[in-house]
Amino acid sequence: MPARGIAGRVVRWQREHGRHALPWQNTRDPYRIWLSEVMLQQTQVTTVLAYYARFLERFPEVAALAAAPLDEVLALWSGLGYYSRARNLHRCAQAVVAEHGGRFPGTAAELATLPGIGRSTAAAVAAFAYGERAAILDGNVKRVLARATGFAGDLARPAEQRALWSQAEALLPEHDIERYTQGLMDLGATVCLARRPQCGRCPLEEVCIARAEGAPERYPVKTRT
Ligand code: ADE
Repeated sequence: MPARGIAGRVVRWQREHGRHALPWQNTRDPYRIWLSEVMLQQTQVTTVLAYYARFLERFPEVAALAAAPLDEVLALWSGLGYYSRARNLHRCAQAVVAEHGGRFPGTAAELATLPGIGRSTAAAVAAFAYGERAAILDGNVKRVLARATGFAGDLARPAEQRALWSQAEALLPEHDIERYTQGLMDLGATVCLARRPQCGRCPLEEVCIARAEGAPERYPVKTRT
């Protein structure tokens, strides 16, 4: 399957069936996008919405977050869980102010050097804020791509993780990176579910290797280590 086949299908599907009205969409402000991506790392959209609004009201820009006492950040985060995210959020804001003059760096590679910003989060921010052709690969997207491409490597192995990252990069479209990125997230969250994949609603149904094999739930392969 040529890369265009998968990416084009994801982009067209996102346009018609994806999520479009989330508060961190339709902005190019890397601060707002970064805040949403960190909150969404381990928390569902419905929960994040209220926290996101409160954070932005209290910290409308990165300098305000950097200047706040950590206790206040933790109090506002209270209930979202995984509190290392809040500590890193605060550290990241301070690094942006102290080391980057208060502006988020302009590439995924530089973003990934900041506290709490891993490779996939960096790519999501760079794609949404700057239109950079950078590949995301969070847990949901690993599932979508492993199934679509029939990637049978064991993701407990670093070499196989690297191979799937390469696959993710090879699949990137030339255009519409924002929509493609959002489309992969939307597919992973609403259609290509871990246990009950909704293949009948999936734009990749005709090209999905796992579907053709009749057992999409077998992917991704990850043994316990
Ligand atoms: N999960 C991670 N990033 C997301 C985003 N931008 N929109 C919806 N869900 C997400």
